[in-house]
Amino acid sequence: MLIAHSIAELRHHLAGFNDHALVPTMGNLHEGHLALVRQAKPLADVTVASIFVNRLQFLPHEDFDTYPRTRDSDCAKLEAAGCDIVFAPSEQDFYPEPQTFKVQPPADLADILEGHFRPGFFVGVCTVVMKLFACIQPRAAVFGKKDYQQLMVIRRMVRQFALPIEIVAGETCRADDGLALSSRNGYLSADQRGEAVHLSRARRSQ
Ligand code: PAF
Repeated sequence: MLIAHSIAELRHHLAGFNDHALVPTMGNLHEGHLALVRQAKPLADVTVASIFVNRLQFLPHEDFDTYPRTRDSDCAKLEAAGCDIVFAPSEQDFYPEPQTFKVQPPADLADILEGHFRPGFFVGVCTVVMKLFACIQPRAAVFGKKDYQQLMVIRRMVRQFALPIEIVAGETCRADDGLALSSRNGYLSADQRGEAVHLSRARRSQ
């Protein structure tokens, strides 16, 4: 498995491959991410996973600074899952100047649900995903159904910009207690986790 630390290195590694499949992540990987990588493998002749904690999708009071950065263990897991290239750029390389060109998703899709509580979140997500698409030029990209609103926003973005990219949905992976695997579950106390498990069961039985 190759690791690209910059856009230039990535383009060098991708030269010679026709079809690229992408799994975008912010790292701190769990089995859910690895399932997406395994799903991406047959879709193209090279599988790329990106690891980039995208400042643009964090509000000022959110956890950008403390978001777990676990690149070495992430790379070991990706290699075991069959990933071919990891794109893990530095912030300086990916955003060498302030990213003032942004992708603005429509309010009816992006300002409801999670977007209601996190204003600007989907502008940050669409902007980074559009830039990842520009760097990797995938024929397919895999996004988890766990972040269902994100999946819908990206699907509509791809459709409206007529990007030649198939957006593939990955099933949600769950822990034994039924909670969807998520990088931020590590923040939960035992009580909070119990409550989340209860809520998740109640919603799924509706
Ligand atoms: O789902 C995520 O982890 C992020 O929102 C994504 C798609 C990698 C963009 O930063």
